[in-house]
Amino acid sequence: MKREQWKSQFGFLMAAVGSAIGLGNIWRFSYLAYKNGGGAFLIPYITALLTAGIALLILEFGVGHERIGSAPLAYARINRRWEWLGWWSVIFVMFGIVLYYTVIIGWCLNFFFYSFDLVWGNDPNDFFFNKFLHISSGPSEIGQTRTPILIGVIVVWFFNWAIVYRGIQKGVELANKIFMPLLFILTIVLVSWAVSFEGALSGIKAYLTPDFSKLSSPEVWIDAYSQIFFTLSLGFGIMITYASYLPAKSDLTKNAILTAFINCGFSIFAGFAVFSVLGFMATSQNLPISDVVRESIGLAFVAYPKAISMMPAGQLFGAIFFLSLVIAGLSSSVSIVEAFSAAYMDKFGGEKKKIVTVLCVLGLLGSIIFTTEGGLFWLDIVDHFLNHYGLVVVGVGECILVGWMFKLEVIRRHINKVSSISLGVWWNVLIKFIVPMILSLIIIWDLYHELEQPYENYSWTSLILIGRDWVLFTLVAGIVFAMRPWKTDLLDQEIVRKPSE
Ligand code: TRP
Repeated sequence: MKREQWKSQFGFLMAAVGSAIGLGNIWRFSYLAYKNGGGAFLIPYITALLTAGIALLILEFGVGHERIGSAPLAYARINRRWEWLGWWSVIFVMFGIVLYYTVIIGWCLNFFFYSFDLVWGNDPNDFFFNKFLHISSGPSEIGQTRTPILIGVIVVWFFNWAIVYRGIQKGVELANKIFMPLLFILTIVLVSWAVSFEGALSGIKAYLTPDFSKLSSPEVWIDAYSQIFFTLSLGFGIMITYASYLPAKSDLTKNAILTAFINCGFSIFAGFAVFSVLGFMATSQNLPISDVVRESIGLAFVAYPKAISMMPAGQLFGAIFFLSLVIAGLSSSVSIVEAFSAAYMDKFGGEKKKIVTVLCVLGLLGSIIFTTEGGLFWLDIVDHFLNHYGLVVVGVGECILVGWMFKLEVIRRHINKVSSISLGVWWNVLIKFIVPMILSLIIIWDLYHELEQPYENYSWTSLILIGRDWVLFTLVAGIVFAMRPWKTDLLDQEIVRKPSE
């Protein structure tokens, strides 16, 4: 069977950018920047982008394009014993990260509708945690599913299904070609509107005023590297899959650099909207900015609603804000459904439409636990463990596999043959030494702190049963998938790509 292919390079770029730009770019980046020294955070952030992000993104594009496969197939074609790494990456995203990620998109969808009537009233904090989430006392008290959230999540999975079902060109590519320009327009509207608010400038100052003293703290650097990983969808097995749908003549380095810069530029730009609004809120309440900034989800679902209630025509502003989040989120969640179904089809064959349907139903079922009253705690724990011990570990694995178990030169020569911007030997040095070293240091640091103190003071039992075991189960599932016999002959075929393909 012929492999699907993008219609255009632009379509590929939009899809890669769509996967990269997600919920994390809007509130996670803004909050991290604020917490970690404002403008000074740009230094570790850009350092992480240049020393690890771009190099790994080029590696993932290169591997997917040269080996022509989804993550498991591409890795197996490099070294059969490493197929599990590819499975593990797509499994912990498809049966982990995306399960709660779609729930957050579901919240955004609800808040989109709430915006029109400012349903949260004058106590958005109480509204979000008590009325909307109906939050329980802890992870062990699951409680009931929240109907509005469940409905939101059903809609999100329906969109995932409807987009991926239509195939690469008519589904993923088309959706992103509409979503991304639309997202950029909405964001431009939000930023130019937000900077006109009274007090906006004080917010922007808080966002950008550099506090260089923060740079001596290792945590700031770890935050920067982790954020780059998450934001560029590295270690997800997604970029490998997307690159495998490129025709023979494709400019890999240029597309990687464009994807990275558009993604990070978008984060920095969207930060202006986030902080202008916080500045406006602080000014109108006569409070210092530090009093109105909220951590991660509190920023979008508590601080923002409050500001929306206070601003003129806030209903419209709120609707645009939450719609942008929904669009940014959907284009990311779609990418893993595509990457997992590709992995499955590469190994076991089958009909794409059927696989996608089953996958989205399973995804919806898996999301349900996060729509319960205890869902937020589960989300928090699973997110922490998979981000810290999934993505980054896969990152190190990729570097070892391609850099040490294989001739990295093969990939570099391939990339240079098709790309306009050539990679020097420095790239090999990054992949073989620098990136795995930095990532290993991060893992060791994280592990040390993990054991020192329970994350967010959850009980060890919950952390182990929910967090650690989620990592372990996905890993075991990855190994099991890798051990199943191949039903297609893709692994045994010689990898050839006709110049016309
Ligand atoms: N890069 C996205 C962000 O910053 C995250 C993401 C990419 C993602 N692909 C995904 C999340 C697939 C879940 C599933 O928000």
